[in-house]
This record gives sequence, structure tokens and C-alpha cells, in this order.
Amino acid sequence: MIRVALKGSGYIADCHINAFQNEEVKNIGKIVAVVGHPGSGMKAAARVGCRFFETLEEAETEVGFDAVDICTPTFTHEEYTVKAANMGKHVFCEKPLALSVEAFDRMYDACKKNNVKFMAAQVLRYMSDFTRIADVIRAGTLGRIHMYSSKRLSQHPAWSTWQRDPEKSGGGLYDINVHDIDLAYSVFGMPKSVYAVGWKSPSGCWNHVATSLKWEDVQAVCECSLEMTGDFPFTAEIIVTGDKGSIDFISKAGANIKGERRISSRLYPAGSEGEDFKAPDNDGFADEIRVFLEAVINDTEPPVRPEESRDVLKIIVASHKSLETGQVIEL
Ligand SMILES: NC(=O)c1ccc[n+]([C@@H]2O[C@H](COP(=O)([O-])OP(=O)(O)OC[C@H]3O[C@@H](n4cnc5c(N)ncnc54)[C@H](O)[C@@H]3O)[C@@H](O)[C@H]2O)c1
Repeated sequence: MIRVALKGSGYIADCHINAFQNEEVKNIGKIVAVVGHPGSGMKAAARVGCRFFETLEEAETEVGFDAVDICTPTFTHEEYTVKAANMGKHVFCEKPLALSVEAFDRMYDACKKNNVKFMAAQVLRYMSDFTRIADVIRAGTLGRIHMYSSKRLSQHPAWSTWQRDPEKSGGGLYDINVHDIDLAYSVFGMPKSVYAVGWKSPSGCWNHVATSLKWEDVQAVCECSLEMTGDFPFTAEIIVTGDKGSIDFISKAGANIKGERRISSRLYPAGSEGEDFKAPDNDGFADEIRVFLEAVINDTEPPVRPEESRDVLKIIVASHKSLETGQVIEL
């Protein structure tokens, strides 16, 4: 049983607490400490049924743990990853891992030096609707891909303010474009070049961005927004077209990801009628945590490899550069 210290007790920590209730996760891992700020931290610990501590060191002394699950604001990921790695703890960390490749390298170096696992929580790679699309593209079912386009559109998170500071969150580009860029990377690999257009918020965050990616023979556009107005439904879309078929996937939930998701997913094979393409539901958060715990137990490489997360961060940094300069950035 892998003993986990949960660092942070905000929005995503709550999703991870739920995921640890999943039967398959429960069998191999357990949150034994919530570490962070007393108010929300104590409430989260009460919900888990574990103890609360203000520091990782106290949690280690009092209850001991094997791995840390980092769910704090992005600008703190480096500090807690390096600290946990130097304590000899495996690290599962929310996306984006860091706001620069240099910061990522310091995190990964600490994990390598201490021989601990390091995995980014890229949940789309474990959500069945998205994995199913990725799998059929990889399998060649759609033939040669002409265009891959995805969207992730949301209001600004209502639950916290640190995302408004580009130094702390990187804005929507780093915060949510990372999901779709990571998924596209997991299918097509490292692109040759990046070009982006977008809108910068008054606080200096690139919060509505379309990042275009160019490979040898595939092109993609990944659009994201953290600035949709009113009660615009949280929207995720993928439209992908190849010479043998197309997929049209759209998911809409309530504003700020509240409420039920309404999903339409159709596959349109070339030359025949469209068919339902909805994947069976799963809990992506539980699955990403399960595979990380399995990598710790079996001493295998976590399936979201740090080198891949480094490439994805390089793409995002290139998109940022493109937004600032108006130039195509070669990778
Ligand atoms: N995978 C996803 O779909 C998803 C969704 C939302 C957020 N995230 C990521 O999760 C991370 C946390 O986001 P959130 O929305 O849960 O944030 P949040 O503001 O809801 O929660 C942050 C938590 O960290 C604590 N905290 C705040 N400032 C801190 C500091 N300086 N040092 C240590 N702890 C601090 C807060 O007390 C709180 O417990 C971010 O990196 C974000 O990008 C991922």
C-alpha cells in the first residue's frame, strides 16, 4: 500500500480525494496526510479521515509517507517537487509541472538524483473520451490526418485568484492549453514549429489562445480560453479529419465545470454513414493516480514520462514566444 501525502486542499485536491475512493486505487494507495493551509487543509483531512500537517517534514515525522501528490498553485510545484524528491519521496504533480523548461529541469534533476518517480497529472490521457480518439488516430482508422483541431473553453476559475497572476499560473496558455497540447503531442509527437494568436488579459495572462502546431504532414490548432463570459458552458471539442474518416467530439458542462457533461461523439468513416463514437465513462483522475501508484509499486517508468512533459512544456514556451513576437517558432 503506497502512503501518499496530499499537498494542497483546493479545487483539484478535492478531485484527487474523490479519485482515491475508487476501488482499484483504494487497493494500492491511501492518502495518509493532508499538508498545507490549516483552514481548507483540516477540512480535507477530515473528509479523507487522515491527519493534517502544515509541512511535509511534520507529516514524515508523524505518519511517514512514500509519495506526494502536489495539488498546489503552479508556481509552487518546483519547490515542493524538489523538497519531496530530496526527502526520497515519489512525486505525482498537477499540470503544468512548471512555467519554464529550466524549472522543469531542476525538478526532474532532483527526482533523478534521488531515484524517485516523477509523473505529471495529465488527466486527458486517462479520460476515455479522449483516449479513444487518440487510439483510433494512432491505429490509422482515420487514415492520413489532414487536420486536428481542439478547444477547451471556460470561465476564469471562480474559486481562486492566483491564476490571474501570469508569474504564478502562466495564464490560460500554461494552465489549460497544456491539456490539449499534451494530448496532441501524445498522438503526433514533437511538432516542427509553433505559431499562436491570442488575447492577453489586463493582468498580463494569455487567457484566450489558439496554438497551431505543424508536423511534417499533420497540422493542429489547439484553442483554449479562461475568459468565457456569463454562464458559457465549459466546452471541450475535438474535430479531426483524415482521408479515411473524421471524428466530431463535443462535451459541454455547466459554467466552471459544474453539473453533468453533455457529450456528443460521432465517427464519420469516409463513404458511409456516421456512427456513435461515445466511449464508456471512466474516472480519468482515478486512472492517472492508479498508473502512477503502479509505477511506484512495480518500479517501472510512469506512463506519462518526464521527457514527454519536458517536450510539452517546450511547445508551450514556444507558443508563448510566438504570442509575444508574432513569429513562427521552430522547435
Ligand atoms: N487537471 C486538471 O484538470 C486541473 C484542474 C484545476 C487545476 N489544476 C492544477 O492544479 C493546481 C492547483 O489548482 P487549484 O485549482 O486546485 O487551485 P486552488 O487555488 O483551488 O487550490 C490551491 C491549494 O494550494 C494552497 N496554496 C495556495 N497558495 C499556496 C502557496 N503559496 N504555497 C502552498 N500552498 C498554497 C491553497 O491553500 C489550496 O489548498 C494548479 O497547478 C492547476 O493548474 C489541474
